[in-house]
Amino acid sequence: MKGVILAGGNATRLRPLTWVTNKHLLPIYNKPMIFYPLESMVRAGIKDVLIITGPNHSGSFINLLKSGKDFNLRLSYEIQEDAAGIAQAIGIARDFADSGKMLVILGDNIFIQPLKENVDEFEKRQKGAVVYGKHMATVSKQYGVIEVRDGKVVSIEEKPQKPKSDIGQTGIYMYDNRVFDFIDDLKPSARGELEVTDLNNYYVEEGTMICKILKGWWVDAGTSFDELLRANLLVAEEIKKEKK
Ligand code: DAU
Repeated sequence: MKGVILAGGNATRLRPLTWVTNKHLLPIYNKPMIFYPLESMVRAGIKDVLIITGPNHSGSFINLLKSGKDFNLRLSYEIQEDAAGIAQAIGIARDFADSGKMLVILGDNIFIQPLKENVDEFEKRQKGAVVYGKHMATVSKQYGVIEVRDGKVVSIEEKPQKPKSDIGQTGIYMYDNRVFDFIDDLKPSARGELEVTDLNNYYVEEGTMICKILKGWWVDAGTSFDELLRANLLVAEEIKKEKK
C-alpha cells in the first residue's frame, strides 16, 4: 500500500508563525513537524510516500527530505495550487495511487500508535475505508465527530455544534481506489472546500467505513498554539522515557 501525507493549507490559526513558512516545517521538540507523519508511514511498513504541499514553500520540503533515502522511503512530491480542501488534495494522488489502496495522514497529526497491523488487515479487505477516531472528554468544535452504533459508523459530522458522540475524527484514513470517483462527485462545502468528512460519508452511506479507535496520545498540532505546545511536550516526554 502507498502513503500520502497532506502538507498544504494556509495554517491561518498559527499565524504569525506561518506567515513565511509552512506549518509542517515548524519544530516539534527536536524535529520538523513533517518528520512525525513520515515516521508513522515507516512504522506502518509503507515504502512509497507522496507529499502534497502548497506552492509557496515546496522547495523547502525537497531540501529537507530529499529522495527519502534517509527514512528508507521513496518520496514523491505534488503541488496543490490552492488550499481547496483535504479531499481536493487527496484527489491529486490519483496517478500516484496507480489503482491501489492508500494510507492518508494529515501532516499535522502526531501520534504514537503504530498502524502496521491495521494496514495489513486493510490490504486484505476487498473494498471500503478506515477512519481513526479518538475518544475525547469534550469533543472540541475543532474536529469532525464520528457516531458509531453497534460497531457501525452511522454518521460523521464536520465540526458540529452539538456532537452526537465523544469520538473525534483524526486525520488518519485508509481508502480503496474508488476514493477518486467519490472525490469527482463531491461538491464544495459552505466554506468552498472539498471536505474529508463529506468524502468519508460516501463510505459511511455504503456501509463500508470502519472506525478504529486510536490508542495512546494523538495531537492535531495545527489547531492552536496550545496544541502545538502539547505536541512538543508529549514528544519530549516520549524521548525522556526512551532514554531511561
Ligand atoms: O486533524 C483532524 C481534523 O482534520 C478532523 O477532525 C476534521 O474533520 C478535518 O476536517 C480536519 O480538520 P482541520 O481543521 O484540522 O483541517 P486543516 O485545515 O487544519 O487541515 C488539516 C491538514 O490538511 C493540514 O495538515 C493541512 C492539510 N491541508 C488542508 C487543506 C484545507 C491540505 O494539504 N490542503 C488543504 O486544502
